[in-house]
Amino acid sequence: MRTDIRPYQPDDLDGLHAALDQVAREGEHFLDFTSAPPLAALDAFYRSLAQSGWPHYVAVQGARVVGWVTAAPCPGQTRAHAATIGIGLLAEARGQGNGTRLLTAAIDHAWQIGLTRLELTVRIDNHRAIALYERLGFSTEGRMHHAMRSAAGHYTDAFLMALLAPERGLRIRL
Ligand SMILES: CC(C)(COP(=O)(O)OP(=O)(O)OC[C@H]1O[C@@H](n2cnc3c(N)ncnc32)[C@H](O)[C@@H]1OP(=O)(O)O)[C@@H](O)C(=O)NCCC(=O)NCCS
Repeated sequence: MRTDIRPYQPDDLDGLHAALDQVAREGEHFLDFTSAPPLAALDAFYRSLAQSGWPHYVAVQGARVVGWVTAAPCPGQTRAHAATIGIGLLAEARGQGNGTRLLTAAIDHAWQIGLTRLELTVRIDNHRAIALYERLGFSTEGRMHHAMRSAAGHYTDAFLMALLAPERGLRIRL
């Protein structure tokens, strides 16, 4: 089935909440949470993104939301140029280039509104996500030891990865 990538609309809230919850409930392998936040909290977060014009796209198959990407503000005046990426797709929508399309939309949008840094954390065993980020130019800036802990008490490391806007990123000389 054809998958379209388009900006999030308020009508997508229920469908996106369900998709987020489904991916979160796959376990502790992908996201920081194992169930979706309450609908009202998610709605408030998405409204704040929309009010500021920050990147928020969904992947849809007909009327069904099958994926999302957000770029959320990093708190603090000295971090106003930076955003944190969140991305996910239902299992049946993975491995078909949809993650590439979602993330590319968010990156283009981010540079257009003047952001100059996108960052994210990813479990070291999330190979598909890491492959996607590296292919789109993200570099690994560090390893966060014991960044995540499962309900059973098992720790996993995560990579901190980031992408700088092209006009800034390549001119830095240390
Ligand atoms: C991460 C995610 C968004 C990527 O989206 P996607 O549509 O599957 O990604 P794409 O198909 O665009 O690209 C994935 C790349 O990983 C590669 N890949 C797939 N499985 C892989 C694996 N097990 N190991 C390494 N690379 C893999 C693909 O070949 C592809 O690279 P290529 O296009 O150069 O061949 C998606 O898989 C997902 O939602 N995963 C669960 C939620 C999640 O992990 N979110 C990110 C948390 S940091």
